[in-house]
Amino acid sequence: MTNKDTNSQSGIKSTWTDSLSKNQKPDGKALLAHLRTVHQYHTGFTETCASTCRDKTGRNSYEWLAEIVPDIDGIRVLDLACGSGPLLKILYDRNKNLKLKGVDMCPEELAIAKGRLPEGAVDLFELKAQNLTAINDNSIDVVLCHWALTLMNPITPVLNEIRRVLSPGGRFAALVNGPMNAAPGYSDVHNLIYGYVQAKLPKYGEIDLGDPRIRSTDSLGHLAREVFPEAKVTVETSVVSMKGPVSEVAETAAGFFYASLILPPETHKIMLSELSNLLVVSKQSRDFKKQGRFAMPINRLLITKQ
Ligand SMILES: C[S@@+](CC[C@H](N)C(=O)[O-])C[C@H]1O[C@@H](n2cnc3c(N)ncnc32)[C@H](O)[C@@H]1O
Repeated sequence: MTNKDTNSQSGIKSTWTDSLSKNQKPDGKALLAHLRTVHQYHTGFTETCASTCRDKTGRNSYEWLAEIVPDIDGIRVLDLACGSGPLLKILYDRNKNLKLKGVDMCPEELAIAKGRLPEGAVDLFELKAQNLTAINDNSIDVVLCHWALTLMNPITPVLNEIRRVLSPGGRFAALVNGPMNAAPGYSDVHNLIYGYVQAKLPKYGEIDLGDPRIRSTDSLGHLAREVFPEAKVTVETSVVSMKGPVSEVAETAAGFFYASLILPPETHKIMLSELSNLLVVSKQSRDFKKQGRFAMPINRLLITKQ
């Protein structure tokens, strides 16, 4: 059986999940291997989920993050862990004279990003965020990072690299998970999914992807101030949500949880059916499909380098 067969028949397996099953703490190398496997088999999945959920004013989280970039020709922007490139596309469509760069460690994601943007519009690099060798010191006005900082460990080298590449007065903005209690019903979704995941890997949750300090508003601000002691640091919380046929809402909601990807297809299906029951808001719409709603808390970290 090939790796691909194994991963599609039994859920994602990696050296990271192997460590967890032996009650061991996975190292940074295992984390990278796990993320590579996830993004090989589920390329572009973040975009599918994140572009559907919107805040009260109708913006999705990419659009909220993109607002940090001033609409001025020549501004140099780096999308860190750009994945399949949705944020770069938003920026390019808004102003074709921005100087855009994207970095990601996963070639499958970068191939999608490359395919969606005109030749020469963006410089894309296959790199790890901990070591941005292709990006010069003080060469970027805005670094953005959409839903990826949460996955990085070690995190301090990443923040040091951002500090190095930012020009004086430059800004770093990252979109990450917000506090669970900011969005109604979110913790129930989290607990349901982690219940299924922990039945397979009891340590998943106690040990999770990335550095846990990124997951709380206070520790995120604290960490940012440690690496950028002289900078202005803010963390804003918002909520994005979606409504629609409940089976689609449940699938999108589950897509925000990397943990759900370790479930074998049969268990994943059962989990989705229970999640649908949790998210249902009305019995039926006119087309006889049950409707559901999901709300997701988000934080936008903003650092202005002095
Ligand atoms: C949840 S996806 C987000 C992708 C994109 N920013 C978006 O929101 O659509 C996380 C991305 O981070 C990348 N990634 C995770 N850790 C990384 C690291 N240490 N260096 C570079 N890329 C990394 C993954 O390859 C993946 O494309």
